[in-house]
Amino acid sequence: MNDSSADRSRIALSRDEMREFGYQVVDLLVEHFANVRNGPVGAKADPARMVALFDQDPPEAGRDPNDLLAQLDRDVFPNNLHVDHPRFFAFVPGPNNFVSTMADALAAGFNIFNGTWLGGSAAAAVELGVVRWLCRICGFPDAAGGLFLSGGSMANLTALVAARHSLLKDRVEGATVYFSDQTHSSVERALRVIGFLPEQMRKLPSDEHFRLSIQTLRAAIADDRAKGLRPFCVIANAGTTNTGAVDPLNELADLAAKEKLWLHIDGAFGAAAILSERGKELLKGLERADSISLDPHKWLFQSFECGCVLVRDAVLLKSAFQIKPDYLRDVHRSEQEFNPCDYGVQLSRSFRALKVWLSLQTFGVTAFREAITRGFGLAELAERELRARKGWEILSPAQMATVCFRFGNSDDLQTRLVDAMMKDGYALLTSTELRGAVALRLCTINPRTTEQDIIETVERLDNFARKL
Ligand SMILES: Cc1ncc(COP(=O)(O)O)c(C=O)c1O
Repeated sequence: MNDSSADRSRIALSRDEMREFGYQVVDLLVEHFANVRNGPVGAKADPARMVALFDQDPPEAGRDPNDLLAQLDRDVFPNNLHVDHPRFFAFVPGPNNFVSTMADALAAGFNIFNGTWLGGSAAAAVELGVVRWLCRICGFPDAAGGLFLSGGSMANLTALVAARHSLLKDRVEGATVYFSDQTHSSVERALRVIGFLPEQMRKLPSDEHFRLSIQTLRAAIADDRAKGLRPFCVIANAGTTNTGAVDPLNELADLAAKEKLWLHIDGAFGAAAILSERGKELLKGLERADSISLDPHKWLFQSFECGCVLVRDAVLLKSAFQIKPDYLRDVHRSEQEFNPCDYGVQLSRSFRALKVWLSLQTFGVTAFREAITRGFGLAELAERELRARKGWEILSPAQMATVCFRFGNSDDLQTRLVDAMMKDGYALLTSTELRGAVALRLCTINPRTTEQDIIETVERLDNFARKL
């Protein structure tokens, strides 16, 4: 057996092989970050072709990872939507940054166990530090805490588990939950997962600005109380996915306090905007929540998966999740030590906080503030450009870097516009439905998007609309 095959059976590469492969990976990423804006926004591959490409057993004898990189570069990386592309305006873009990417490599490379203080003390300290900073920017008190998670879906779920444990002692019979019809589907799914039936969920019609109406909410709570049900939680939005609408947070907090309900604010998309002056103004009342979801992989420019749940009283989160099994007795010896596994579902977990920490330290908070503020301005520019052209109707004005609009009266035309833009490849947007009408939507949170990108995107949309 030669050296290199001996290394192989230890699932290892030699020093030189690691260097060569690692440098190639870095080169590939650097080229991607530097050039992504010059290529198409991405491609949706044909399932028959794509699935067949990878539907094979792996080889018995290994291959050169550098050759495999070439295969990935040909077959995998181009056949996705580039959610980090400066002209990717669909859904919620993922404008990650290079430092975040390298932090992920470091966290994975050192394979830091971020589940317990014993397994990863410094990692737990970094996580605690970043979580505490996020709590401070959201206006939470010192007793607040939280946890990094895969994203907003898990953050909503984790917060709702804390709410259920704290107010219902986990008994959900007859308990009712309130949210608007603009609320992200992950909330409904989370409620389903934690034992709520559809008849316990009140999906209330939003007002003309796509916000949860206090009057409607008040009436629904009173109605349920009259029926002997147990209203227990309101879920408000700090930036809906559809339109960026922010529910009336202060009024909701007043009502929740009066009715003794848990107030969860889904700010997975919008809460990070509180760093900017524009966001601070719009998000007044965020600090009054019992829990908040905030996704750094959205408007804090981190690589997936990076979500965060923040809870006003960290003790409530801990009491909802902590279990002390025998085999973790060494982990639970000291009360002073922060064990992330006590605050959520995961035990083995990666060091997600590192990328946020490293990005914030590298670029500084001012850069993040400015990047967020730019997002607001770009959606407003798009709105102005659309209003300046005949035939375009604004269905929801720019707010929280999101604008919704349509051309003419045909729903089908909006879908065909999405397809035409996708085929064109210059920029990508997607459609949604607002009060039953199909709307086009631009979400402009990428800090590398330029004003010219927006103007040219609207110009192309306008050309396609007139042709179609
Ligand atoms: C408001 C809101 N909540 C929750 C989510 C779900 O987040 P994730 O996809 O990170 O799980 C999203 C995703 O876009 C969102 O916009």
